[in-house]
Amino acid sequence: MSGIIKELPTISLNNIYKSYGTGEGKVEALKDINLEIAKGEFLALCGPSGSGKSTLLNVLSGIDKPTAGTVMFLKKLLNTMPEEQLSVIRGKHLGFIFQFFNLMPVLNAFDNVFFPLVLNGHFTKKEAKERALHFLDSVGLASFMDRKPGQLSGGQQQRVAIARALAHEPQVVIADEPTGNLDLATGEAILDLMLKINQETRTTFIISTHSSQLKERANRVVEIKDGELVNASEA
Ligand SMILES: Nc1ncnc2c1ncn2[C@@H]1O[C@H](COP(=O)(O)OP(=O)(O)O)[C@@H](O)[C@H]1O
Ligand SMILES: [Mg+2]
Repeated sequence: MSGIIKELPTISLNNIYKSYGTGEGKVEALKDINLEIAKGEFLALCGPSGSGKSTLLNVLSGIDKPTAGTVMFLKKLLNTMPEEQLSVIRGKHLGFIFQFFNLMPVLNAFDNVFFPLVLNGHFTKKEAKERALHFLDSVGLASFMDRKPGQLSGGQQQRVAIARALAHEPQVVIADEPTGNLDLATGEAILDLMLKINQETRTTFIISTHSSQLKERANRVVEIKDGELVNASEA
């Protein structure tokens, strides 16, 4: 973690357990997870399918509550926080990127970035417009603003999703297998873009992935297997 100044962790998970269901059908998706994530980290979360990556991302971003344990996010205890307050925190400090982009198919690229900003409540329409234009430009889509997702390639759709995730300038971006649906070269370009943003803005990135390229270039790789962290190494 060279170059990262010691300060309070942005996210701290302590003795996290998460189970789904009860009795015979009970699944222990997370078991005694302890993890601190510093500001500015570019962290890769790796593990086979079903190992608990998405569950862990959902718990650390307050989308899902752990069965036991504590989640601290920017010095606030998330797991006892009412949903209303959680959604304010998510809207202000978190950006999300998904494997299947999750864009609104009826909206063009500009509106896919613009509308969430307007709904966010922290920006005027004018500010939202300026931000949408700026962030779409910064991901290389200045000339594709009018296109709907169906008229864009997978890589371009993921760039729109990155612009959307960044446009409110969150402290943390959570990406769940962001290159999982892209070919190798496109995935590499998306990785380059996320790394560039991470280095320029010190936005923390937490990325679940199967990609070896991403693992090689992350600050830190955290491995999860059957709901347990098995190996936390620093690059
Ligand atoms: N909503 C749910 N209800 C029941 N089981 C779930 C639910 N979500 C995930 N699981 C189970 O929890 C485990 C971890 O899943 P997940 O976090 O999605 O893994 P990954 O993202 O690494 O593929 C799996 O056994 C999965 O079947
Ligand atoms: Mg998953």
